[in-house]
Amino acid sequence: MFETLQAMPADAILGLIAEFGDDQRANKIDLGVGVYRTPEGETPVLSTVKNAEQALLETQASKAYLGTAGNPDFNAAMQAMIFAGAATDDRLVTIQTPGGSGSLRVAAGILLRAREDTTVWVSEPTWANHVPLLGGAGLELKPYPYYDTDRHVLQTEAMLNALREVPRGDVVLFHACCHNPSGLDPTEEEWRAITDVIVERELVPFIDMAYQGFAEGLDEDAYSIRYMAERVPEMIVSSSCSKNFGLYRDRVGTVTLLSADSDTAQVIASQLSNYVRTLYSMPPDHGAAVVSLILNDASLRAEWHRELDEMRDRLQSMRALLNDALAAKAPEHDFSHLVRANGMFCFLGITAEQVAALKRDFGIYMVDSSRINVAGITADNVDYLAESIAAVL
Ligand code: LMR
Repeated sequence: MFETLQAMPADAILGLIAEFGDDQRANKIDLGVGVYRTPEGETPVLSTVKNAEQALLETQASKAYLGTAGNPDFNAAMQAMIFAGAATDDRLVTIQTPGGSGSLRVAAGILLRAREDTTVWVSEPTWANHVPLLGGAGLELKPYPYYDTDRHVLQTEAMLNALREVPRGDVVLFHACCHNPSGLDPTEEEWRAITDVIVERELVPFIDMAYQGFAEGLDEDAYSIRYMAERVPEMIVSSSCSKNFGLYRDRVGTVTLLSADSDTAQVIASQLSNYVRTLYSMPPDHGAAVVSLILNDASLRAEWHRELDEMRDRLQSMRALLNDALAAKAPEHDFSHLVRANGMFCFLGITAEQVAALKRDFGIYMVDSSRINVAGITADNVDYLAESIAAVL
């Protein structure tokens, strides 16, 4: 029967990992997939994670099943880190999921169970995997304007106007911080204006937070979630520990549903449990056990905050470094939007042909849209990078 299947193209982001690995050029630069890198270009296990893993090795007494919702201590700590005191606890249900992608997929399934013709509005552009992941689950997706690719700014008015036209009850997907791919986030004032429209139109916000702590800080980055949670009856939040704990391959995340009252929350908890059982039975334990140890131990938590601050600071300084180098090598072009963006990503703002030329002629890898991961920039490679970009402009 398998002869009926057709070969699929490589994933636009993950495909770059293999392509980069196969490239033999010594001066190649990877600005593709979103992983953090040190000034030496490495993605090491955080030292806080190593310490927590050591403690886990010594203290973990059993690997018996925990159940569909995963580790309850992890879930409680994550809920507190995301929401602080913003919502009444008995209206919130948080479960552990296999990464942020698993979280999005579970949320999609529950939305479809709640209403089989659910439409989700997504920013134009959005993370390349949002569309196949949520659309593949059966949700209808429609775009709302977000990023002005010519001027490299948010299209706030156009976004608000578009949201005012969204039919009541539809779901709107936002990125809490470090918008992937643009790196541009609404200000707090803009989040309040967005929330007004959400409330007025009775829309359901669905917030994806894959980078908590990478824009300004753990609390600042959760502003949209906490502000909306105080004002809307229902919302969905997907979160990921891939980036902020560096636990990419361990697959650690949560999905949280806020419902109108605690009775509905009980129903949702049972739906989540039943749905997860039919999908993957239960999430992997190790990464969430590590995060739980870190968040529930004052000294590990403080150590993690320091490592998180260091990652955030490095990302910001690499943006500035590249912007300065480009100002020197390509003074007739304005790249100042690089320093206005948050987190790992932003668009370089070059064409797909120029992206292809950078790969072919200089061994510089980025997504076709010209999204770059600034973590791939180092003091050693920035001049070569800026010269190469200038050469293809
Ligand atoms: C990215 O956007 O590069 C990351 O979120 C990794 C992924 O899974 O696409």
